[in-house]
Amino acid sequence: MRSVPATEALPTPRDAVSAANARPAVRAFFDPRTCSLQYVVADRSTGDCAIIDPVLDFDERSGAVATHSADGILAHVEQAGLRVAWILDTHPHADHFSAAAYLKAKTGAPTAIGEKIVAVQALWREIYNLPELPADGSSWDRLFHDGEVFRIGGLEARVLHSPGHTLASITYVVGDAAFIHDTLFMPDGGTARADFPGGDARRLWASIQQILALPDDTRLFTGHDYQPGGREPRWKSSVAEQRLGNAHVAGKTEAEYVAFRKARDRLLPMPGLILPAMQVNLRGGRLPEPEDNGRRYLKIPIDALPGAAWE
Ligand SMILES: [Fe+2]
Repeated sequence: MRSVPATEALPTPRDAVSAANARPAVRAFFDPRTCSLQYVVADRSTGDCAIIDPVLDFDERSGAVATHSADGILAHVEQAGLRVAWILDTHPHADHFSAAAYLKAKTGAPTAIGEKIVAVQALWREIYNLPELPADGSSWDRLFHDGEVFRIGGLEARVLHSPGHTLASITYVVGDAAFIHDTLFMPDGGTARADFPGGDARRLWASIQQILALPDDTRLFTGHDYQPGGREPRWKSSVAEQRLGNAHVAGKTEAEYVAFRKARDRLLPMPGLILPAMQVNLRGGRLPEPEDNGRRYLKIPIDALPGAAWE
């Protein structure tokens, strides 16, 4: 297995300028089942890449798991002659399973997520009453802290802690590209919800402001696109576009945004896969261990979460 690269020393000012000017190749993969965006971000000169937020397919009606999405990413990696240096998640997703563990098994590349994942694990271990669910971050090879810098080939990647949607969410800033997951969606899609356990609308506002403070032409790659009005999927915007035109944020004060977000979240049903997905994603995308009959099972807590949509 490829060894985990050590954290790079802080860049010199000259390095920082060249790193900020770096324009990595970004390829997006849209999963229509969950409206999720998965990315491959690559150093054009070395061919090293990171896979961000890969999806493990799950059909909740039949309980079947498949690797169509992840295999599509691997096919691209192979076709483009890339080498996978990292498998990254921005946060523990509530709407799909992470393919991080599957891709690690296929490529040997290290997995990583934000260090606050341990608090999310502790929170959900209680909700599930699963004492065997690890709550020490050991399900990943690396836990990133706020401000940490690491390398994808010759590219500098910087971690911003972006809590609000979850308390562990992080943004990856790679050259002029930022992978902003569930903070801002496309400008016409607004922003992510902040009502999951550990979520917080005020912290989401602060995280969004930090993203909007990046250079105007930073390419922003969102984690979901719910195709407002039935338009084609889109995923790339810029800081300038978001600042001017984000449907939930532009022209609002913090207090207005927080009131809006909380009122809206009260009306949103829980995502269909939140209870199965958190159980897998808090294990780094690993399914629960098989029982004595060789079959794996997921556990569904009854009446643990508010937000039932009966209508
Ligand atoms: Fe999410």
